[in-house]
Amino acid sequence: MYSFVRPILFQLDPERAHDLTLSQLAMVSRSPWMTRQLHTCFGAKVPSLPVQCMGLDFAHPFGLAAGLDKSARALPALSALGFSGVEMGTVTPKPQPGNEKPRMFRLPEDEAIINRMGFNSGGVDEFLQNLVRPDNAAVAGINIGKNATTAIADAHFDYVNAMQRVYASADYITVNISSPNTKSLRDLQNEAFLDELLGHLMAARSKCEKVHKRRVPIALKVAPDLSGDEIETIAELVVSHQFDAVIATNTTVSRPDSLRSVHANEAGGLSGAPVKSMATECIRRFYPLLNGKVQLIGVGGIKTADDAWEKLLAGADYLQIYTQFIYQGPAMIREIVHGLAERVSQHGFSDLPSAMQALRQG
Ligand SMILES: Cc1cc2nc3c(=O)[nH]c(=O)nc-3n(C[C@H](O)[C@H](O)[C@H](O)COP(=O)(O)O)c2cc1C
Repeated sequence: MYSFVRPILFQLDPERAHDLTLSQLAMVSRSPWMTRQLHTCFGAKVPSLPVQCMGLDFAHPFGLAAGLDKSARALPALSALGFSGVEMGTVTPKPQPGNEKPRMFRLPEDEAIINRMGFNSGGVDEFLQNLVRPDNAAVAGINIGKNATTAIADAHFDYVNAMQRVYASADYITVNISSPNTKSLRDLQNEAFLDELLGHLMAARSKCEKVHKRRVPIALKVAPDLSGDEIETIAELVVSHQFDAVIATNTTVSRPDSLRSVHANEAGGLSGAPVKSMATECIRRFYPLLNGKVQLIGVGGIKTADDAWEKLLAGADYLQIYTQFIYQGPAMIREIVHGLAERVSQHGFSDLPSAMQALRQG
C-alpha cells in the first residue's frame, strides 16, 4: 500500500509531506473506529516478541524514535501501526518556531535525511492538550529539550520544568542533549554541564515520584559523534546518577565521503543508512561501560532485521527507527519483528532476552 502512497508524498517538499502524513494520522487518532481499522491492517500482523526495558514491558523491541510526532498528535494511530513504543517530542517548555524553512531534506540515493528543524515545538501546554492515551496504546515516551533562547548555563531550568510538567503523562522521559540544531546544545554532553544537569533532573524526579507515587524512568539521548573519552565520561555519569537508559543515537553532524545526493552538504543532522554503523559502534562502546546498570536503546539507520539484530547483539535492549520508516512505510515493522523472532528461534531460544544473554556472551 505504501508503494502507492510514497511516490506522491515524495513529490512534495519533505516537511510538507511530513505535515500532511501527520495530519492524516492525527485525524485517524481522533476516531476509535479508524484506529481499529489501521490496527487490523498493520499492528495486528506484528508478532509478539516481548522485552523489558527501563522496567517497562514492550510487546516487541521496535519503536518509533523522537521527531516524527513532536506535538503528541498521533499516539493512537502510531500505536495501531504496530510500534511497541512511541517517543513523542522533542517538546520544549515554551512554544518556539524552530529554524527557517527549508530545514528537512531527503537524500534518496543515500537512504538518508538531513534535518535542521531546531526544536520547532508548540510547547508543553499544547503537547499535553493534544496527548490522548487510550488503554491499548504503545508505551509512551516523551522527549524533552530546552528553548533556543535559554542559555546553556540555565538549561537545567528548562529540562526540570519540562520534566515536571510531562511527568504524569509519560511512561518514560528522554532528555535530549544531542540535537545538532540548537546552538551549543551538545555542550551539555560535557562532563561539568552533564553532571550538574543529571543531578538537577534526578532530584526533580525524586520529588515527582513522591507527588505522583510513580517512578517514571529517565533516558539520556546522545550523539553518534562522541569520542571514546566522551563516551566513558557519559557512561560514568549516567551510572552514578542512576539514569535508566541511554538512547544511542541522535543524528550525526559528520558527512561520510560515500554520500551521493545533491543535498549531502546541507547543514544539520544526518540520519538513516549513513549513521547506522556509527550508532551501532556507539552502543558497542557503551555496553561494557554501563555494565547492565543502565540499559541501552539503539537507534540509527535500522532498515532490516539484520540491522536490528546487530544492534541487539551490540548491547541494545530496545530499538527505535525514524528515517527508514519514511522510506519504507509501516509494513517494515512487521517484517523486522518477524525477522527478529525467526532469528531467536533459529538460535534455539524461545524468547529474545535469553537469546541476547547467551549470544552476547558467546
Ligand atoms: C526529521 C527528523 C527530526 C528529528 N527530530 C528529533 C527530535 O525532535 N528529537 C530527537 O531526540 N531526535 C530527533 N530526530 C532523530 C531521530 O529520533 C533518530 O535518533 C535519528 O534520526 C537516527 O535514527 P534513524 O536513522 O532511524 O532516523 C529527528 C530525526 C529526523 C530525521
